Amino acid sequence: ASDGRVERITSTIRVIPDFPKPGILFQDITTLLLDPQAFRDTTDLFVERYKDKGITVVAGVEARGFIFGPPIALAIGAKFVPIRKPKKLPGEVISEEYSLEYGTDKIEMHVGAVQPNDRALIVDDLIATGGTLCAAAKLIGELMCIKFLEIMEYIIFCVRILLIIACSIFLA
Ligand code: PRP
Repeated sequence: ASDGRVERITSTIRVIPDFPKPGILFQDITTLLLDPQAFRDTTDLFVERYKDKGITVVAGVEARGFIFGPPIALAIGAKFVPIRKPKKLPGEVISEEYSLEYGTDKIEMHVGAVQPNDRALIVDDLIATGGTLCAAAKLIGELMCIKFLEIMEYIIFCVRILLIIACSIFLA
């Protein structure tokens, strides 16, 4: 955006060196949240960009995607789906392991939260190696594939039944 909002938002993010490990420049968005105008501008920029793109689901990545995702979802009229750290979601989940800037981790998502005809927007506070974002995209893609495979299995089942009926008519 050329109206200075990005620059203003950037100026509210506190940068903390060597957190949580030496060599990491931590981008602390809690200071952005202390500035209501910067918080509003942040979600507005996403809403302006995605409101007419047919988005039906906003998937927020734990933990800070839970802060920015829901206001964006509400504003564009999409459902919100949390992508969580392991063993937090109570229903049936699919998981994806990924590498972090500092270590490895795993994320999970409820099966059925995203449907094959959904169009998803993934929201988080930042990208470092991109591992988390890739894992989130894979999870959403897998859910669509699971549904696709289920449909394929159903079609194969129906074709088999039709063949059996055809054979029994032919042999009768
Ligand atoms: C941070 C950040 C992103 C991710 C980005 O989360 O909020 O989710 O790392 O890193 P990547 O692009 O290298 O994958 P973190 O793992 O610190 O978890 P938290 O939000 O639960 O503290």
